[in-house]
Amino acid sequence: MSSRGWNGRAPAGRIAYVNGRYLPHGRAGVHIEDRGLQLGDAVYEVCGVSSGRLMDEEEHLDRLERSLGEIEIAMPMPRKALKLVMREMVRRNGLRDGLLYLQISRGVARRDHPIPKTALQPGLILTARSVSPGEFEKRRQDGVTVITRPDERWGRCDIKTVQLLPNLLAKTAARRAGAYEAWLVDSDGVVTEGSSTTAWIVDAKGTLRTRSLSHAILPGVTRRVILEAAEEAQLPVSEAGFSVAEAHSAKEAFISSATGIMPVIAIGGRPVGEGRPGPVTRRVQELYALTSAGRAAKSGT
Ligand code: PDD
Repeated sequence: MSSRGWNGRAPAGRIAYVNGRYLPHGRAGVHIEDRGLQLGDAVYEVCGVSSGRLMDEEEHLDRLERSLGEIEIAMPMPRKALKLVMREMVRRNGLRDGLLYLQISRGVARRDHPIPKTALQPGLILTARSVSPGEFEKRRQDGVTVITRPDERWGRCDIKTVQLLPNLLAKTAARRAGAYEAWLVDSDGVVTEGSSTTAWIVDAKGTLRTRSLSHAILPGVTRRVILEAAEEAQLPVSEAGFSVAEAHSAKEAFISSATGIMPVIAIGGRPVGEGRPGPVTRRVQELYALTSAGRAAKSGT
């Protein structure tokens, strides 16, 4: 994700939520012994906001509850109440287009590795970030480039934990190489996913391909919506995954996440297809926009 638009100072009026309180962003903080801070014992979600509406909200909350369940952290409040906090954050920040970040940590305890025997009150923080319409739009239109890097993450990438060091090192390598994203590659030469995005190609036969769900990748919310929309539109789809070699001979490629669907026009310095966004990617962008906006309107967010 780009750091443009963020200059290290909280924009006037920006509000954060920390454990029951709405606070000025610049003064919000957590306890020094929060296990999320000290041990990475926390999970998170990033939800897109478009025209003031939370995108794919239920799917993000489903995944959040699943991540929490996998590491035995309880929801800090019922889902209904959490949805109210999310809406209140959108309202208090006057957020029209941007991202809502939500993190739940195991809570505060003296620093010690084992999960405390007595359940802690989980910590809940939310931040909101406004994204200027042009910030992602140019990439959605013009496309981005990616490099490939070995996937050095742990064995449970399906849990959306805040432990992101391998991801951020790969992303940094991409940025230093002048690329936008790093595609992570397993020991068989197969692409797992991007450092913070789902990886896709349109293969030589015109089939949309992405890796199947397992412990090796995050079950992307945008991925799921794209798969459903593509099937409904009768686009050929396969979850067979793809190797780096197959990516190099693909007709098109793209990445997806809560920040949108962006065409990939070059992989490791080699152009994909004709080196510009292709028609299938454009169709997927359209289908996603229609499906997601339709659902947000229906759920009244
Ligand atoms: N990243 N894979 C990884 C490793 C991710 O971190 C993400 C999301 C995705 C796409 O998931 P979704 O479609 O649900 O956003 C795939 C978020 C945006 C982040 O870390 O900022």
